[in-house]
Amino acid sequence: MTTHHPDVTLLAHNYVRPDVQAAADFVGDSLELARLARDRVDTPYLVVAGVDFMAETACLLNPTKTVIHPEPFSRCAMALRLTPEDVLAARKRYPDAAVVAYVNTSAEVKAVSDVCCTSANAVDIVNALEEETVLFVPDRNLALYVAARSDKRVIHVPANGCCPVHHALTAEQVRETRRSYPGAEVMVHPETTPEVQAEADFIGSTSGMLKHAVQSTSRTMIVGTEIGLIPLLEKAAPGRRFIPASPYLVCTDMKMITLDVIEEAIERKGPIVTIPEPIASRARNALERMLTLSRG
Ligand code: 13P
Ligand code: SF4
Repeated sequence: MTTHHPDVTLLAHNYVRPDVQAAADFVGDSLELARLARDRVDTPYLVVAGVDFMAETACLLNPTKTVIHPEPFSRCAMALRLTPEDVLAARKRYPDAAVVAYVNTSAEVKAVSDVCCTSANAVDIVNALEEETVLFVPDRNLALYVAARSDKRVIHVPANGCCPVHHALTAEQVRETRRSYPGAEVMVHPETTPEVQAEADFIGSTSGMLKHAVQSTSRTMIVGTEIGLIPLLEKAAPGRRFIPASPYLVCTDMKMITLDVIEEAIERKGPIVTIPEPIASRARNALERMLTLSRG
């Protein structure tokens, strides 16, 4: 079993398959995985069970370790939509703005950004910046969530950047699910649309929702995020019911990472994540700045 391999630490995101989560040394949201990758790995190999940007982030934050991304085709559909050229063009239009890159971006996009953020710290990062105008890439829904909680001018680039999984959830689906479970509390991820967020009782990152569920007194909770979180919620808050807001909240890229794929990757010590210079140094700066600003 992977967890018993002495040379390997396995990090898993909250959305991967339950058996992969069970085999992992650590399970968390994007921010927790970034911190763990940097501070808690003392094995020569680090295997990341998550989409491509999570493996890249681990590689950038822990350059002395060999980072393995077991399924290179597991790629975040939101991150794929934005190029560094898009960011550079926006910078030309707003030369005084700071560029805040959601961590769901490629290393190339991070390299042309000033600082990164995750859904857990996006508001704090934007508010900690000196600049009055912020170019927020690439999730328009998270950008609008931040804008509503900041005095800064937050401009989202591109106009329609989004996660196809979360963006597809509609406010009517949430209302319909609520009608089936009267009295249930609704929690959603900030990658959902503003209309969906307006229906919610709680908005947070994947681990933010886990923490909220433990503290909540609600017997039934409707969950507006990828369904991988549901078994973790059930484990964290036993005796409660967790209902997906829609049956379509599935990130197929996260589900591509199976135990078999992980075992094979450990066996052959690859595919190894490599990020060329100077992209790596620049992207690392944006990530490290995020970790500094969001400490405490
Ligand atoms: P979290 O940072 O909340 O874990 O979210 C990652 C993600 O990909 C959401 O779709
Ligand atoms: Fe990317 Fe959306 Fe999948 Fe998260 S759920 S990894 S944002 S495609």
